[in-house]
Amino acid sequence: MPMIDRLTAREILDSRGCPTVEATCELKSGARGTASVPCGASTGSAEASEVRDRDSKRYGGLGCRKAVRHINEELNRALGGNDLATQRDLDHRMVELDGTPNKGRLGANALLAVSLAYARAAARERNLPLFQYFAELLGKFPRCLPRPTINLFSGGKHAGGQVEIQDVMVVPLGAGSMETALEMTHAIYQGAVELGRRKYGARPLTADEGGLAPPFPGPEAMLEDTLQSITAAGLEPGRDVAIAIDLAASHFFRKGRYHLGGQALDSSAMIEHIAGWLQRAPIISIEDGLAEEDWEGWPKLLRKLAGRALVLGDDLLCTNARRIERAIAARAANALLLKVNQVGTVTEALESCRLARAAGWKVSISARSGETEDDWLADLAVGWSGDYVKIGSITHCERLAKYNRLLAIESLTGLSLPG
Ligand code: PGA
Ligand code: ZN
Repeated sequence: MPMIDRLTAREILDSRGCPTVEATCELKSGARGTASVPCGASTGSAEASEVRDRDSKRYGGLGCRKAVRHINEELNRALGGNDLATQRDLDHRMVELDGTPNKGRLGANALLAVSLAYARAAARERNLPLFQYFAELLGKFPRCLPRPTINLFSGGKHAGGQVEIQDVMVVPLGAGSMETALEMTHAIYQGAVELGRRKYGARPLTADEGGLAPPFPGPEAMLEDTLQSITAAGLEPGRDVAIAIDLAASHFFRKGRYHLGGQALDSSAMIEHIAGWLQRAPIISIEDGLAEEDWEGWPKLLRKLAGRALVLGDDLLCTNARRIERAIAARAANALLLKVNQVGTVTEALESCRLARAAGWKVSISARSGETEDDWLADLAVGWSGDYVKIGSITHCERLAKYNRLLAIESLTGLSLPG
């Protein structure tokens, strides 16, 4: 049984150069685990709350010294030497200690760092690879690897707003292995670099998640360029490679209208607009097609797209069990984007994953736009049998840490992508 001996933490920097939290958990057995937490930019308003220092003299107020202190002092005192036999015991105890509905006192960043560091230490204590530890929490061993949805083009908040929608991703349907999926994506990416040079005279500058971000005139050009890049790689759109889009629509929704390409669309017009994209390109997933507060629109979007593309909720759901239950009851989505730090502990994220699955939804397990070199996400995505995994582009080391870990898991387990 894992018993915590000591918790320590420090402030480190993420891929945007902003502070985040890294925690180390030492167990009485001598096993230890270290983990760090990511941070979003296009965040949902129902996300669990991070504790930041708000000291404008350091990192523009984003420092994490307070969250680090909460681990080094209060959490270490309260959890060290206690009989917390399982991940669940630990996470529930931390939620109780925090005592707020959104983890605003101790901080979701502090709680998640401890939750993940404990997971790693507990896995080491039993000599398990981390993905297997996560699979045991779920109670099911994965039959295949999650299919990657890989960022090709970026816009929205991750690319300074040159185009409103946030991500256009490629989904290598024709790849039987992670190895082949990455190889195909590299060819498409090179095609996109060349296209950007020719069409826009753009150097291959990348956005927060490593996607290319030339000055697109609008989302349709983003889609058209994706199709051309796939074709330039000698691949067939729809057969070898499909497309997934994250509109992150909450971030261009103001006063009941979607401000897209110079137009101000109401919810129904926005749904028609999205349906039009499905006519032009083999799109299999629409994430946050509508805003997080547009609860009336989402069921209509689902009815419109059902059977053709996933209606995937990110900001809408915030990996939050209550919001997922509401969306299931309202028939507002059919897939969950799972981001552990939106809810703040491993156990609560697992509960959300289970809820979504029980409703017959698909689950896509996702990184954040601000990441560290930590690779736990790859283990989590495999261990929880994610249908999809969303990490970002195949550039930038914080992304590659996860892709490379997926490659390692692939060769370790012999698992392949779903048939
Ligand atoms: P975020 O973006 O990490 O900035 O929230 C990722 C996403 O919207 O899926
Ligand atoms: Zn999103």
